[in-house]
Amino acid sequence: MAEFTLPQNSKVVDGNHFEAPEGAKRVKRFVIYRWSPEKGGNPRRDTYDVDLDRCGPMVLDALIHIKNDVDGTLTFRRSCREGICGSCAMNIDGTNTLACTKPIADMAGEAKVYPLPHMPVVKDLVPDLTHAYAQLASIEPYLKTESPAPSRERLQSPEEQALIDEASSCILCFCCSTSCPSYWWNGDRFLGPAILLMAYRWIADSRDEATGERLDQLEDPFRLYRCHTIMNCTRTCPKGLNPARAIAEIKKLMVARTA
Ligand code: SF4
Ligand code: SF4
Ligand code: FES
Repeated sequence: MAEFTLPQNSKVVDGNHFEAPEGAKRVKRFVIYRWSPEKGGNPRRDTYDVDLDRCGPMVLDALIHIKNDVDGTLTFRRSCREGICGSCAMNIDGTNTLACTKPIADMAGEAKVYPLPHMPVVKDLVPDLTHAYAQLASIEPYLKTESPAPSRERLQSPEEQALIDEASSCILCFCCSTSCPSYWWNGDRFLGPAILLMAYRWIADSRDEATGERLDQLEDPFRLYRCHTIMNCTRTCPKGLNPARAIAEIKKLMVARTA
């Protein structure tokens, strides 16, 4: 049987340990991935015993407490703290989710916190989203029209708006794309569920006049058709969205226009 081994410098090694303060009564251990481009070397797992009476209820609260009061070198992204900006997406206890909406109380035992999987790491819990944003730009995520602009808004019926409601709620956290095996292996050319959901948002928009051009751009063995309906994306989305269904809708539109 074939045996696979990781290159030495990709193995995560045990790192520093930070004790809880004396007298702490409710202690939770956080095991956190650490890697710094300045220091190089292997990534580490640092362990922090956090006094839960000194921080708020969510995983992001614990990370902020660690950064402010225990170890200022810990690096992560966050902005809104309420599940809207998508910045704090990371892998927590094996699932991609938002640290700001993940209750600490939901996790039994040690809390394992890693960056989103299969992305290059900028530092610690910060993934490099350069490629994902280039893919987003490639689908031209804005209204494209040729007809003259009306004197007021381009109107939609409530039914037309309902078609794009779900896709418009995507916060581009990339939890879905980084849980998709097809994106892990072919992310250079497969657009992945987050970008395809966004592509659908503009394809389904009744005001957009570039539908054919948008479908042409996706008519490719990799960009769209690397989706094999594995459904990890929909299971993972912390906003309860269904990118797999949007991808299926795009495929149906592809078939309908050749029929
Ligand atoms: S349904 Fe498609 S996009 Fe979603 S996880 Fe599966 S292969 Fe990836
Ligand atoms: S579909 Fe869900 S998981 Fe994917 S980017 Fe949008 S909000 Fe995040
Ligand atoms: S900080 Fe904005 S989604 Fe978590």
